[in-house]
Amino acid sequence: MSTSEFDALNRQHALPGKLAFGPGPGGLAVAVVNNSHASAMIALQGAHVMTWTPHGQQPVIWLSRAAAFAPGKSIRGGVPICWPWFGPHPSDAKLPGHGFARTVPWEVVESRSLRDDRTVLVLRLAETEATRKQWPHATPVEVEAHITVGTTLEMELVTHNNGSAPVTIGDALHTYFEVSDIREVKIHGLGGCPYLDKVDGGSRKQQQGPVTIGSEVDRVYLDSTADCLIEDPRWRRRIRVSKRGSRSSVVWNPWTEKAAKMGDFGTRGYLNMVCVESTNAAEDVVNIGPGGEHRLWVRYAVEPLS
Ligand code: BG6
Repeated sequence: MSTSEFDALNRQHALPGKLAFGPGPGGLAVAVVNNSHASAMIALQGAHVMTWTPHGQQPVIWLSRAAAFAPGKSIRGGVPICWPWFGPHPSDAKLPGHGFARTVPWEVVESRSLRDDRTVLVLRLAETEATRKQWPHATPVEVEAHITVGTTLEMELVTHNNGSAPVTIGDALHTYFEVSDIREVKIHGLGGCPYLDKVDGGSRKQQQGPVTIGSEVDRVYLDSTADCLIEDPRWRRRIRVSKRGSRSSVVWNPWTEKAAKMGDFGTRGYLNMVCVESTNAAEDVVNIGPGGEHRLWVRYAVEPLS
């Protein structure tokens, strides 16, 4: 984006002292938020929240120190938006994993300060020849990301079906959370849920008690609608993940070998992160009727551990 394009964006959507647009890492266009509650950085490519830190806290969102920032490349860490499918495309292996939304430009639709000083940014996926080619339906759809930055981070992904035929989508807010040391962390809220274990050929199992991680974990939890709590005793905090419009959750940590193969994780990055993803994945995809919409909403909150 050129200086004059940034100037135009700032004239229309900057909020003095709270929100400004400019070049970020790798020259990617970013929105920088700093209000009385928190700071955050959001890349317009992918509507990708890269950082969110309530003042006085450790970062809540993990961003890889080895992340690549380049047009068309997904960023390792933050909150990638997976849309309109989750994981590999169901029938065409040539299409990108987790859909195309995370690697294309989104447009700024709106920005505002709420009375309590939280900052709202609304972005819309820009339709281009490239997105039209990858969208698997003839029906036109529109997708928006509503991001609210405060002492909590709220995100809502809204998919409108503007056509006359139903569409099926999968989606996810694929959030990487920062933790002190994954080996000491417990994830509550998934006990009793069935899950598909992708590290064990997709076999179906059932979670007993909290999730702990000491090797590669890649699981799609089904029938998961309760809050997930990421309990981090060393940092004496837990991160509460609340959600609506999602009946599945993914827990992922690549551990040593897979992280090394990925090349953008850094050497010890896997120890400081866990993905707890609010999803519509696997058998939990969403059908949206003509004129209908689907809303995937999450709220992340940091709570002290007593
Ligand atoms: C998770 C998947 O959601 O994302 C994993 O369950 C995958 O299987 C991971 O490896 C990262 O995906 P990507 O495409 O960002 O490397």
